Amino acid sequence: MAYAEKFETLCVIGLGYVGLPTAAVFASRGLEVVGVDTNQNTVATINSGAIHIVEPDLDILVNGAVATKKLRAAARAEAADAFIIAVPTPFTDNHKPDLSYLQAAADDLADVLKAGDLVIIESTSPVGATEKISTHLAAKRPDLSFPHNSCMEANISIAHSPERVLPGRVLIELIRNDRVVGGITPNCAKRAAELYAIAVEGRCLQTSARTAELVKLAENAHRDVSVAFANELANVADKLDIDPWEAIRLANHHPRVNILNPGPGVGGHCIAVDPWFIVDSAPEDTPLIQAARLVNNGRPARIANAVTAAAAATGLTAPMIGCLGLTYKADIDDIRESPAIAVVKILAMSFKIRIAEPYLNILPDELADLPNVELSDIQSTIIASDIVVLLTDHKQFKTLDPTAFENKKLINTRGNLKKPRNR
Ligand SMILES: NC(=O)c1ccc[n+]([C@@H]2O[C@H](COP(=O)([O-])OP(=O)(O)OC[C@H]3O[C@@H](n4cnc5c(N)ncnc54)[C@H](O)[C@@H]3O)[C@@H](O)[C@H]2O)c1
Repeated sequence: MAYAEKFETLCVIGLGYVGLPTAAVFASRGLEVVGVDTNQNTVATINSGAIHIVEPDLDILVNGAVATKKLRAAARAEAADAFIIAVPTPFTDNHKPDLSYLQAAADDLADVLKAGDLVIIESTSPVGATEKISTHLAAKRPDLSFPHNSCMEANISIAHSPERVLPGRVLIELIRNDRVVGGITPNCAKRAAELYAIAVEGRCLQTSARTAELVKLAENAHRDVSVAFANELANVADKLDIDPWEAIRLANHHPRVNILNPGPGVGGHCIAVDPWFIVDSAPEDTPLIQAARLVNNGRPARIANAVTAAAAATGLTAPMIGCLGLTYKADIDDIRESPAIAVVKILAMSFKIRIAEPYLNILPDELADLPNVELSDIQSTIIASDIVVLLTDHKQFKTLDPTAFENKKLINTRGNLKKPRNR
């Protein structure tokens, strides 16, 4: 099968935290890139040269790529030499992988697929999803041959290359990180590595699609288990009236110990979700991964219990609770699976709440209709509150003068502020 000499056109499906930076980076390397998104506002925003997410330097890159006509956004997939799919892969209510977005993206590109094309799934996927999408595409396009059933003869190449960027450093990590590039066949992996070589300075480590799928899930499950260990220690330390951060800091002086910091739980679109994809593939063989999920998911209730106890200790009939931060981690605007929101939802059943969240202008949908929950600025939130709960360690909070918390009860779930005097 003859493939295009080089990749000149690229279609990126899904223009979110992964897809938009990816599209902009390839456009900056000279490819003609069309980005596709089902959200009309996203398409309009990008075509105006602006962006709809917070990520350092992405606005400048997208603006330049749109101005030079190397990048534009559209509502439907268009013909290209290569396709990158970066749509959500959430789980269902019973923790099963939801592949409906991947299938919708495949349906869209199936109409414009032609012999010689390369399709890469960057969305985090359960093991076997890439082969399933190949089968799905084959059913739509019987005129083409696909790698899951025709091996080296296929005229479409399909690969999985999981994205491993850190929000806040996406543009740096997209280029510098090593990539795992898993092909349904070795030839598919080779073709995908050729595409990434245009933009990626890290190594492209070629393997099978199934291995690449497990690699990404393993990375996030490893992180989840490590955080769960720290959170479990925090639960124990709380019960024994020991400062968990001090205990962990001292334990980490051991040359072969490196315990992570505890927190209010685990959030985001990846670490809180991906371990369930492993569990779904092998439920009998994953007691540790399942236990870690339960420990981390149990943290918001523990934090809420601590706040409730502190509220009772004030003796006030209606203490005001101030919550600092709603996003799932520091210095970004992403609230997906945020444990901070889980804490606020529990507290909102009993208390009036003010929230300071420098990265949001409005409350998330799940809090917006609660009459006793209000978004405010940092100073007003602290001043109005009897108890302040630090939920996200944004730089705006870390640099607060500890005297701001004088005469307040501070519950610091992140452990990185100077200790104020409690009343
Ligand atoms: N955000 C991260 O830091 C990160 C890191 C590594 C991997 N991932 C994985 O990458 C994938 C994408 O994550 P994200 O954070 O970019 O998600 P996102 O929600 O920010 O973006 C996804 C985009 O896809 C669009 N979309 C949904 N269905 C579509 C369709 N059929 N056609 C076109 N567009 C469609 C949505 O409107 C949205 O703009 C997920 O599988 C995620 O687990 C994310």
